[in-house]
Amino acid sequence: MTKQYHFDVLIIGSGAAGLMSALELSEELSIALIAKDKFLESSSFYAQGGISAVLDSNDNFASHIADTINTACGIGNKESIRFMVENAPDAIKDLEDAGVEFSQQEGSYDLTTEGGHSSKRVAHVADKTGQSVQTSLLAQAMNKANITLFEQHLAIDLIADNNSCNGAYILDKRLNEVSTFSSHRTILATGGASKTYLYTSNPDTSTGDGIAMAYRSGCEIVNMEFTQFHPTCLFHPHAKSFLISETLRGEGAKLTLPNGKSFMQNYDERLELAPRDIVARAIDHEMKVHGFDCVYLDISFKDSNWIVERFPTITKRCHELGIDICNDPLPVVPAAHYTCGGINTDINAKSGINNLYAVGEVAYTGVHGANRMASNSLLECIVFAKSCAKHINDNFTREALKANKDWDASRVEPSKEKVLVAHLWDEVRRIMWNFVGIVRSDRRLQTAHQRLNQIHQEVDDYYSSYTLTNDLIELRNLVQTAQIIVESALSRKESRGLHYNVDHPEQTMKESNSVIIKP
Ligand code: FAD
Ligand code: SIN
Repeated sequence: MTKQYHFDVLIIGSGAAGLMSALELSEELSIALIAKDKFLESSSFYAQGGISAVLDSNDNFASHIADTINTACGIGNKESIRFMVENAPDAIKDLEDAGVEFSQQEGSYDLTTEGGHSSKRVAHVADKTGQSVQTSLLAQAMNKANITLFEQHLAIDLIADNNSCNGAYILDKRLNEVSTFSSHRTILATGGASKTYLYTSNPDTSTGDGIAMAYRSGCEIVNMEFTQFHPTCLFHPHAKSFLISETLRGEGAKLTLPNGKSFMQNYDERLELAPRDIVARAIDHEMKVHGFDCVYLDISFKDSNWIVERFPTITKRCHELGIDICNDPLPVVPAAHYTCGGINTDINAKSGINNLYAVGEVAYTGVHGANRMASNSLLECIVFAKSCAKHINDNFTREALKANKDWDASRVEPSKEKVLVAHLWDEVRRIMWNFVGIVRSDRRLQTAHQRLNQIHQEVDDYYSSYTLTNDLIELRNLVQTAQIIVESALSRKESRGLHYNVDHPEQTMKESNSVIIKP
C-alpha cells in the first residue's frame, strides 16, 4: 500500500512562483506545497539582479512594454506583456508586504538597469534579491495553517485522464516511497530546464521535470528552442554555476578580451547593455575566433567600498576563489540560464488540461517571446502566480475526489548498473552543449535529434525495469525536455532572438508563428 494524501490544491515547486501561488490562494483551501530538494533550493533563491517594474516618475508602462517586445524579437504576446507590466508595481508592493526590503537611495528605490531596458527600472536587494524574496515568502507560507509543506518530495508523473488532472505520484526521497497525492487543482511551478546543458547558471533543480510531466499528460509545449544563455558566468574550475550579475554591466562594467580591449562596439550600439542574445553570441564568437577560454568583465574602475556594498554576494564568492573584484577583471563565459518556452498557458496560468495550471519558468505565457529581458522573470512568477490563485479561488468547487490508483512498483528491481544513468546524464548534457548551443546548424541539430531518440529508448527500458531513484526520474525528464528543445529548434527554420542557425540566418517566419510540440 502506498500513502494516499488528499488536498484541494497541490503545488509542485517552492520557488517564487510556487510560494506566491500558495500565499495567494484562499485560506479555506487545503494546500500541499512540495519541493524535490530543500525548500529554498531553486533558481529563485539565486536571483541576483532584481525585479523590473515601472517605479520612477520618468518611466512609464508603454516604455517597459516596448522594451519587452523589442527584446522578445517580435514574437512576445502583447496582451500578456501588458498584463505583466501593468501589474509589476503591485507585485513589488506585495513582496514588500511579505518582508522584502528593496535597496533604497535617498528615500527612493535604488533602481538600476540591465540589457534591453531603456530606463532604470530594476528594483533589487543588493545582489541577493532572490534570497530575500525566497526567505520572506517561505516564512509566510510556514505560518499558514492551510499550507502543508513537503520537502525532499519529487513528483514523478501527473495523474491525468480524460484531459483532466487529479494529482501526482510523488517520491518521498528520505523514505524511498512513492505516495499518491490526489487534488482538485494542481499547479506546476517546477522552474526551467537549463540543466539539460553541460554548463549552466542554474541549481540542480532545473531539470525540466514540469515540462516533461505536462507533455506526457497531453499538454502543448511552446517555443522551447529559445534557451537563454547568460553572457557572464564565472569561469573558474571551482565555481560551479556562479553567475556574475548583468547589473554589473548596468553599473558600467566593461567586457574585454584577455588583452584588455573592449569588443562590444563591434556588435551593437548598446554595447554591454544590448539584450542577452546579442552579448552572449558576441562573446561566443570572440572565444571561438581567437581560441580563448573566457573573456573578462571589469568593474574595478569603481570605488572599492561601493563595489563591496552594492555586490556583497559576488565580492564574497570571488574572494573565496582568490579573485579580487575591486582590482581584477573577472573571467567570464556564457552558460545556459533560462527556458523561455514552456507549457502553453493563458493569462490565468491555465494549461490545456482541466484543473492543471503552470506558473513561472515552467510556463509559456508569451511574455518573453524569442528572448527574455533581464529581471522580467521573477516579475512573471509573481504576477502570474497571483492570477492563477485568483482564478482558482474564484472558480473552486469541491466535488468528490476521484480515487487514484496506488503506484505499482511490483515489476521492478533495484539496479546494479547505476553507471548507465550517470553516463546518460552526462551524454545528454554534452550533446545539448555541443550541438544545440548558442550557434546551431541543421546538421548538428539532426545529430542531436538522432542520438537523443536512442537515449530516450534506453532510458525507457531502464525505467520500466529498475527501482526509481532521484537521478533516474530526473534523467527521464531531462531527455524528454532535451528532445522537445531539439524538435523545436529543427522546426524553426530561421534565426530569431536566442535561436541562431547558420543554415537559416534570416528572420523569415511570420511573427505570430509559435513552434508548438504536441505529445
Ligand atoms: P524555481 O525558482 O527554479 O523553483 C522550482 C521549484 O520546483 C524548486 O522548489 C524545485 O525543487 C521544484 N521542483 C522542480 N522539479 C520538481 C519535481 N519533479 N518535484 C518536486 N519539486 C520540483 N530572474 C529575474 O527576474 N531577476 C534576476 O535577478 C534573476 N537572476 C537569476 C540568477 C540566477 C543564478 C538564476 C539561475 C536565475 C535568475 N533569474 C532571474 C531567473 C529567475 O530566478 C527564475 O526564472 C525564477 O526564479 C524561476 O522561478 P520558479 O518559481 O518558476 O522556479
Ligand atoms: C542577473 O542578475 O544577471 C540575472 C538577471 C536575470 O536573469 O533576469
